[in-house]
Order: sequence, then C-alpha cells, then structure tokens
Amino acid sequence: MSEIHLNKKEGSQLKLFTPGPVEVPDRILEELKKPNDTHRSTPYSDMHKLAKEGLQKLLYTKNDCFIFTSSATGVMEACIRNLVGKEEKALIISIGAFGDRWYDIGIKNGKEVVKEPIEWGNAATREIVKKALKRNQYSVVCLQANETSTGVYNPIYDIVPIIKDCGALVCIDATSSMAGVKLEVDKLNIDVCLASVQKCFALPPGLAVASISEAALEKSSQVENRGHYFDFQYFYKKSKVNQTPTTPPIPHIRALVAQLNYVLEQEGLENRFKRHTQLGKRTRMWARDIGMKMFSQEGFESNTVSTMENTLNLDFNKMVSQILEKGYRIVNGYGSLANKTFRIGHMGEITLKDLEEMLKVLTDIISDLRLEKMG
Ligand SMILES: Cc1ncc(COP(=O)(O)O)c(C=O)c1O
Repeated sequence: MSEIHLNKKEGSQLKLFTPGPVEVPDRILEELKKPNDTHRSTPYSDMHKLAKEGLQKLLYTKNDCFIFTSSATGVMEACIRNLVGKEEKALIISIGAFGDRWYDIGIKNGKEVVKEPIEWGNAATREIVKKALKRNQYSVVCLQANETSTGVYNPIYDIVPIIKDCGALVCIDATSSMAGVKLEVDKLNIDVCLASVQKCFALPPGLAVASISEAALEKSSQVENRGHYFDFQYFYKKSKVNQTPTTPPIPHIRALVAQLNYVLEQEGLENRFKRHTQLGKRTRMWARDIGMKMFSQEGFESNTVSTMENTLNLDFNKMVSQILEKGYRIVNGYGSLANKTFRIGHMGEITLKDLEEMLKVLTDIISDLRLEKMG
C-alpha cells in the first residue's frame, strides 16, 4: 500500500478536508468486506429496496430512486440523454466548473443546450433565472445545488419554483451537498436530484444515486437515442423488482444502506444538516479572523466546501503540501481558480472538533508563510 494514505508521523489515516472523496469511517469499511449474494437474488433485492427507501427519506420524496454504477458525471449525462428530445432546448445555469461540465455534456451529445453563464463566485438568483427563462422555451433546466469549484450554494428554494412555472423539467446536481444539506425533492417538484456518494455520504467513490420523478420517466419514454447503460426506462423496469439493469457493486450498496441507516436512525437528518451548517460557519469565521476573503458571494456560501480568495498573497501549493506533512489534505482552487483560491472541504463525518484541530494547524502554517514572505 502506498504511503500516500498515511500520516507518517502518527501512522494514522490522512485526514481529508477535501470536497470529495472524503474519509470513510471504519464501520463502512467493515460493511464492504461482508460476503455477497448475486444481484438477481432475493437478499440483494431486499437490500436494494432498503437503499431506495433510505434515499427517499433522505430526499423527502416518494419518487423512485435509482442507483448507478458510475460517478455523478454519468448521471449528469443520463439526464441530458434521457430528457432532452430532438428539436428541444435545455438551459444550463452555470455558476462554475460543474455547471460548465453539464453544458459540455450537452454539446458532446449533440443536444441543443444554452448556457446561462454566471460570474464565478456568484449564485443564480431569482432575477438571473427569470431573465434566462424569458429568452427561450426550454424543456429541461439543469443546475447545481452546491457548486464545488466556487463554494457557492444556489438558492434552490427560490429558483426551482420559477423554473417549474415555465413547464420545464428540472435536474439538480446535488453531488457535493446531498446527505449534508437539506433538499426536499417533492416540495420543490424536482425531476432529477443526483449525487455521487464520495462526498457528504462519506462512502468510497464508484456509486451515484438519483431520485427520478414520474414526469421525467414519462419524458424519457418519448426521447430517442437514450443510449443503453444509463437508459432511465431500463433502470425503471429493473427498479420495480429492486434491481439494477447491470451488475452493481454489491458491497458498495450494502455500505450505502448502512450509511443511510446511520444518517437516518443514529445521527438524525436534522442533526446532520445542522453539523454541516456549523462546519461552514466555523470555517468562514476562521477565514474572516485570519484576514481571508471568501470567494463565494455573501449569503450564498456553501456549508460543505469553503473557497477562500488569496487575499494574503500566499503560495497555496506550499501551504497545501505543508499541511499534508502534518496529516491533513486540503486542496488548491479548482482548475483556473488554482492559486487564486483554495478550498477546505467540510463534509461527510467531519466534526467541529476535527475542523478546529485542522484549522489550528493551518493557522500556524499560514503565520509561518507570512513571516517567510516578510523576509
Ligand atoms: C457539483 C459536482 N458535480 C459533479 C461532480 C462530478 O462528480 P463525479 O466525479 O462523481 O462524477 C462533482 C465532483 O466534484 C461536483 O462537485
């Protein structure tokens, strides 16, 4: 095993303050090594049903929930392929790198997609969305709940009703907030709400989940060339018997069931959401105290990942590698935001105490870097 996963000094696991993948608790690693039955067996179907029921509770929905052997990007592509018909237009409301990814997926699949680009760091406000919707008739609108590149959380409760009033299907990429931030699918009538599980779920990467509305299922039945692997109709048929179309990662689904059970029955949904809110607030407090400006628009800051601007003119690569030596991984800015910003992920099972400990170490590193610069 590579030493990369070890804190050399303590000999313990590296603490991942990253926006995914995040640290996976031992109890989940234990679940992964339990024996399998086949994916067409009754025990598997029983387990699959529990996963779906848990997801429905997590997402406050009666909609069917699908489980995909892929990361979130696969499900983003599935939305485009299943829901955007010939001669229809989809609107992509992009507030960062993952919004742009949705647009690229549309283009690469030969769909007519229109991007509403919003300056990075800002959120999609009611006014912006209203204006964008007036420009065209859209059959589908795709956007992020939490934009991981900029650390912005969109005002979903404000903007989804406006989109629904226009008659479009709405797909929400909740990859870096699902199981960390409350999102009530049925209350908002969200058609697809998707995420991969290596972020707030605190599971290993390789699995994605989504709730799918009846309207989305009906629409997909009319769309041609949906492909095979991600065909919602195929998933729906198999979901009725609590199975997946192709062989799923069975131990991973067992881990999902265990984690959903933990979230719902042990920590409690409201407690989990509150913990993430506190983690976000505490990180912003630290940033303000140390003299760092948030990159995210005030009032729309993410509670699962914080993106800070380089107001102290620090060498972020050096900062990231120095804290790694101490056993913590934080990350530089995403893509073009590298060195202009850096990010602290505070999602999954991280506690306020864990965060405090890491921030103390980071504060010392930053002080040293500032001293060094002064010569
Ligand atoms: C908001 C958002 N959407 C989509 C993705 C892509 O997820 P995956 O790597 O699981 O495909 C990410 C990954 O960081 C993300 O943060």
